[in-house]
Amino acid sequence: MNSMIEIQHLNKTYHSKSGDVDAVHDVNLTIREGDIYGIIGYSGAGKSSLIRCINLLELPDSGSITVGGEKLTWMENDTMKVIKNKDLNRVRRGIGMIFQHFNLLDRSTVFENIAYPLKHIGMNKEQIYDRVIELLELVDLSDKIDAYPSQLSGGQKQRVAIARALANNPKVLLSDEATSALDPDATESILGLLKSLNKKLGITIVLITHEMAVIKAVCHKVAVMEHGEVVEEGKVYDIFANPQKDITKKFIISASPLKKIHSLVRKDSPFIQTKDGGLLVKLIFEHTVVGDAIISDISRRFNVDFNIVLANVEILKGEQLGSMITVLTGKENDIASAMSYLKEKNVRTEVIEHGRAS
Ligand SMILES: Nc1ncnc2c1ncn2[C@@H]1O[C@H](COP(=O)(O)OP(=O)(O)OP(=O)(O)O)[C@@H](O)[C@H]1O
Ligand SMILES: [Mg+2]
Repeated sequence: MNSMIEIQHLNKTYHSKSGDVDAVHDVNLTIREGDIYGIIGYSGAGKSSLIRCINLLELPDSGSITVGGEKLTWMENDTMKVIKNKDLNRVRRGIGMIFQHFNLLDRSTVFENIAYPLKHIGMNKEQIYDRVIELLELVDLSDKIDAYPSQLSGGQKQRVAIARALANNPKVLLSDEATSALDPDATESILGLLKSLNKKLGITIVLITHEMAVIKAVCHKVAVMEHGEVVEEGKVYDIFANPQKDITKKFIISASPLKKIHSLVRKDSPFIQTKDGGLLVKLIFEHTVVGDAIISDISRRFNVDFNIVLANVEILKGEQLGSMITVLTGKENDIASAMSYLKEKNVRTEVIEHGRAS
């Protein structure tokens, strides 16, 4: 697949009375055509600043940005060059954007909101009407054509915003926390819509969120941002199966049913105690090993017992990912053999606590 968005050595610093803020620091990203690419980070990480550079709503200080083969900014002898205004307007038509608070025109109807971007490209009334009808069908909101934003639910407002963003057939859709103001049902339905638009239209989507569940639900790839930098990046499955950075681990734990283990440990729960000592360990089974009868095999082979505390198997991006927290008991050298056998079998192990005994 071709790359749709190419970002190299991008920097953006805000200057204010209270000091400078490096909102985007030396960011490099390649987003391929047709991808749903997630960017996750805590508040202030620089996500909005970065995504707003992609359509030059925010002008970076340095770095290069290419969208759909067109250079928006580039470096020449250490200075940043910027695309001419008339070319920028054309490129911007190829980039739609949606926001957390929808940004609709409150005094205009659904029809007028969606027609707005079409008025500037020389369509006649009839063409505009036909296109709005088509867009409303696409976002499944045909019956609200004459409603005002105040008469719509949050999810419906976001559908109008999506229709408006798609009006000029963009190649890229930028989404800045588009589901953060919605309840769980509306979130699910908007995410479903984004997924189906990506499939149906082949549109490349860049999606910002602070929720790992959103990344899990729709994205193919993900970048994790912290203090203006992309600290980790990759396929969603790989990041979930084997996160490297602490911040990534924190995000993943937040979306995992196994997160309870930390409060169990804190409270010294009876669920995680054993009579003769043992090892509290987390096992991660990637799709290549899920389904093998490894646990019972090891139990027999090394004469150890697995007492399962928490476990979860999910389908992520079409592949199984299993994780389990277990108390492993037996003789010390048998436990050690079992642990190295697990590693040999490509089960990842993370010891949570050693020698827990009651
Ligand atoms: N116009 C501005 N002037 C000065 N500082 C700014 C401006 N916009 C953003 N910042 C600062 O830049 C940093 C990154 O902000 P940004 O809005 O990109 O973060 P974010 O990851 O989108 O956060 P959130 O999840 O809260 O939306 C923050 O420290 C913020 O205070
Ligand atoms: Mg933001």
